[in-house]
Amino acid sequence: MAKRDYLKMTDMTLAEAHRVLRLATRLKEEPKGRRATLLAGRSVAVVLEKASTRTRVSFEVGIAQLGAHPVVLSTQGSQLARGEPIRDTARVLARYCDAIAFRTSTTARLLEMAQASVPVINALSDDGHPVQVLSDIFTIEEALAAAGDRSGIAGRRVAFIGDCSSNMARSWLEAAPLFGFHLVLAAPKGYMPPADEVERARATGHVTLTSDPREGAAGADVVNTDVWASMGQEGEAERRRAAFAGWTVNAGVMQKAAPHAVVLHCLPAHRGEEIDDETLEGPRSRVWDQAENRLHVQKALMLWLLGVELA
Ligand code: CP
Ligand code: NVA
Repeated sequence: MAKRDYLKMTDMTLAEAHRVLRLATRLKEEPKGRRATLLAGRSVAVVLEKASTRTRVSFEVGIAQLGAHPVVLSTQGSQLARGEPIRDTARVLARYCDAIAFRTSTTARLLEMAQASVPVINALSDDGHPVQVLSDIFTIEEALAAAGDRSGIAGRRVAFIGDCSSNMARSWLEAAPLFGFHLVLAAPKGYMPPADEVERARATGHVTLTSDPREGAAGADVVNTDVWASMGQEGEAERRRAAFAGWTVNAGVMQKAAPHAVVLHCLPAHRGEEIDDETLEGPRSRVWDQAENRLHVQKALMLWLLGVELA
């Protein structure tokens, strides 16, 4: 059977995504050490060309909890710093490892790594952060279930407020038609996803755009935001701060959302910029569960990609 990768949201069918999320629920409910030998003898490489806290630790710990050996490699300290081509790195890593999680800049680099003969997972690129959004969908469904509603994310209203040209917003855009929820993208002019990606999602009827943060939040079940300047955009930070003035997710914005609405942020957050401290730390915030769930969802994802079933 051909190997599977997870580079973008649509690399899974809806049925497969549900299967992975169900598996993640099971793993989360179990004692930590329950699957400590499931992937015994295997190794998974985590290759980071950008900084990371959550992704690195959740993959590294998750791989170890499944009994496999995590190999974490960053640019500095590996031959990537000397410019060894990704395609060479990919071929070599595949000789040692059973899967590769890769955090990089361009989709071209990601696709080069995906030439490896083992499953490759996008651990964030300039164009998407699918493991985060898959995990965020898990967090939303978990929050709904905790409130007694097991109907899932389909049909819900999810708002993304802030930099909608970011990798996060673009993965949400991809997820909306797949999972059947309505996505509202709210951003100042010039900070929407590329036009072709918007049109593709718009044609499905699952996305609306607005240039008003309060209008974006109106009636939302979920309010999402992310930093105004992503990794690699540090040089634009000042210009972006000016462009996003008035775009902070705060009580005024949240007041427009549904009374039961939850707030998500993939973290790290810049308090006082895209979100204020009160909202991030407030009762609607699910950001700490959101961070934890990366572990459970990525463990499920790795098992699925490696074709390993739970007994
Ligand atoms: N949310 C997320 O991916 O965080 P890190 O950059 O710390 O991995
Ligand atoms: N959009 C952010 C996400 C960080 C997890 C970035 O790319 O820096």
